[in-house]
Amino acid sequence: MLHNGLAMPIVGLGTWEVNKSPECEEVIEHAIDIGYLHIDTAFIYYNEKLIGTKLQEIYGKTNIKRENLFITSKLPPTKVHSEEMIRETFFQSLSDLQTDYVDCYLIHWPGTSKLKVNSDQNRINRLATWRALENLYREGKAKSIGVSNFTLKHMNELLEDIKSRDNGIIPHVNQIEYHPLLYKTHKELEKLCKENNIVIQAYSPLAHGELMTGKYGEVTSRECLQWILQKGHVILPRSVKRNHMEDNFKAVTDFAAGIIDDQTRLSRLDSLVSDEVRVCWDPEQIA
Ligand SMILES: NC(=O)c1ccc[n+]([C@@H]2O[C@H](COP(=O)([O-])OP(=O)(O)OC[C@H]3O[C@@H](n4cnc5c(N)ncnc54)[C@H](OP(=O)(O)O)[C@@H]3O)[C@@H](O)[C@H]2O)c1
Repeated sequence: MLHNGLAMPIVGLGTWEVNKSPECEEVIEHAIDIGYLHIDTAFIYYNEKLIGTKLQEIYGKTNIKRENLFITSKLPPTKVHSEEMIRETFFQSLSDLQTDYVDCYLIHWPGTSKLKVNSDQNRINRLATWRALENLYREGKAKSIGVSNFTLKHMNELLEDIKSRDNGIIPHVNQIEYHPLLYKTHKELEKLCKENNIVIQAYSPLAHGELMTGKYGEVTSRECLQWILQKGHVILPRSVKRNHMEDNFKAVTDFAAGIIDDQTRLSRLDSLVSDEVRVCWDPEQIA
């Protein structure tokens, strides 16, 4: 549950690069059929048109309606130069997804494309972008708003700015890379998010599948996902394979029903590596 009372399913289907797979035509249909009601996409995944088209087909032939789904999209770092540009990008996503609103809209990245990472303009743009998202939220076009890849520093600065205003809106979500190879880094950030009732969404929860290669011993996708759920975070596993989507979904329904893997095996994921491993982009250097 988000701090505005909106319910968000604890598992969402990750869709990064899904449009590049041979299975892309069936992924959304399989996911909904299995029970996924939460879809994570972004302007820069270039799959919003595909998802929008597939969802229209699904609404036409099943009992699933738009209001049953939780759809997240994200504003890319190339489109944060003005409120006009932000709104144009947002409404393009709505049009591609064939919907009047998104359930969650995130600032994808704390920096601005083409700016030097140490430029203070990154911070200035970030704070202004947040105000533009607040307006979309107030208009009901985004049912919740949040950030992604915001570190402790970025989050502290944003919260300070929000709390200095009468009508500021605390983010509902921070979506970050989170899995057994990268989580100690986030300890203070997790604490800050908890204090402010900000839900953490764990992206790349399987570290792009790296965790199941045998490189870190025998680790299953189910263990990774249940390990993250135990930390109290939402998970966004990506798969284009129906059997993997089913396994991942069952890890969640079992978790909700209290059917959890052996605790000793789960706890060993706490110490798989001494030096943390990041599989995605690193926001730490962004001023
Ligand atoms: N905000 C951001 O900056 C950001 C960045 C990265 C990702 N994300 C979001 O998070 C989502 C997930 O992260 P991700 O795409 O990086 O990767 P991921 O979910 O950590 O891993 C995906 C990989 O794991 C494999 N896999 C999935 N389930 C499996 C299973 N049960 N057994 C074996 N292999 C399995 C998939 O292969 P198959 O397809 O063959 O199953 C795929 O190769 C993204 O799709 C995106 O929505 C957000």
